[in-house]
Amino acid sequence: MWGGRFAEGPAAVMREINASIPFDKRLWRQDIAASKSHVAMLGAQGIVSSDDAKAISEGLDRVAAEYEADGVPENLDLEDIHMHVESRLTELIGPVAGRLHTARSRNDQVATDFRLWVRDAIDAMDAGLAALQWALVKRAGEHADAVMPGFTHLQSAQPVTLGHHLMAYYEMAKRDRSRFADARGRLNESPLGSAALAGTGFALDREATAAALGFDRPTANSLDSVSDRDFALDYLYAASVTAMHLSRLAEEIVIWASQPYGFVTLPDDYSTGSSIMPQKRNPDAAELVRGHAARISGCLVALLGVMKGLPLAYAKDTQDDKPPVFETHDLLGLSIAAMTGMVETLTFRTDRMRALAESGFATATDLADWLVREGDVPFREAHHIVGAAVKAAEAKGCGLDGLSLGELQAIDSRIGEGVYDVLTVDASVASRSSYGGTAPDQVRARVEEARKALDEE
Ligand code: ARG
Repeated sequence: MWGGRFAEGPAAVMREINASIPFDKRLWRQDIAASKSHVAMLGAQGIVSSDDAKAISEGLDRVAAEYEADGVPENLDLEDIHMHVESRLTELIGPVAGRLHTARSRNDQVATDFRLWVRDAIDAMDAGLAALQWALVKRAGEHADAVMPGFTHLQSAQPVTLGHHLMAYYEMAKRDRSRFADARGRLNESPLGSAALAGTGFALDREATAAALGFDRPTANSLDSVSDRDFALDYLYAASVTAMHLSRLAEEIVIWASQPYGFVTLPDDYSTGSSIMPQKRNPDAAELVRGHAARISGCLVALLGVMKGLPLAYAKDTQDDKPPVFETHDLLGLSIAAMTGMVETLTFRTDRMRALAESGFATATDLADWLVREGDVPFREAHHIVGAAVKAAEAKGCGLDGLSLGELQAIDSRIGEGVYDVLTVDASVASRSSYGGTAPDQVRARVEEARKALDEE
């Protein structure tokens, strides 16, 4: 394809380091779609004859049918997917295939193909995240009133509802989807027609190829067009944040599934056994989601590193944009699907959660708030009084609601009978009814809104 001025072929190692076909063959659909738009435009503009344009377009369809049926062959001498397609086209339709590359370069070609690929990847991630949101909303609705310990510093803090906890991840997925949508909006401009770096003297219709490929408009600067990979970085950043969220939930599942917690039982489908310890049921899928998140953010850092030293315009380093994006896409797709499956099938042991919520003096704040509200005690003083009550309960081996009124009044005489209404975990969660709070009514309202939003998509 470029051997005109060369006397000898490349060294074997040159051929190997240069070739991207082992990974960029994943772009074949996008490459053929972009070539078809390009040649249709060349025909419409009279840059190639309409007969030639037709022959090339039909030939490209034949290449596509072959790849669909048998996969893409890998010939390292043909470097990349662009040369594979063109070479096969030439075998099928003869020298007229040589007109396809008029007013085009592999530089604008790969930039176009890769944008199309990342756009599809974003759409696939969005669909996966919507399915995860549905699973979260369903389980949150089932457990809107189930009480569990809420943690800060992984220490029992205040009781919360399981539905509220699950809906926190719904919110994260919502932001993840909006980050992907944002990336998609910025990505959706067509570099095709930028040629090697400077544009071309042929009378192209870039608006036409952009529209045919579903782009909003052509890009405005040819130098930027062939060297920009921000769209891939945006995708990798959105993926990294998504993976980080999934990893946090995975971490919770690992903790919850451990015997001392016993908050969840993993279904057989998402656990593995041990070859030596027969009692084991390991949360491997959750652990791998946690591991994958590290690899995905590594991909983001890898591409930032590739890009940061590149002068305008194209440089071959850019070919290394694809492996991190493909790796991320595969890892994240699996992670979202595995997490969705786990959320759908986990058994929540709400009895265990309730027992733990009741055991950690989790309603201590409620007692202090009651003293402020009903006894007109300054909060700092109330905090001190409740500290003494916790100490007394600890000594007695009970919860705060296990102390008699006499015992409580011995600590502070302003404590009255009404205090027992706030000392249970149910009363505690029901009282946190501010917008976005953990009260079951609030959770049910958020679940309803979420269902409606997902239904309307
Ligand atoms: N395989 C190349 C890539 O992915 C295509 C562009 C090659 N352009 C060039 N001038 N060598 O970047």
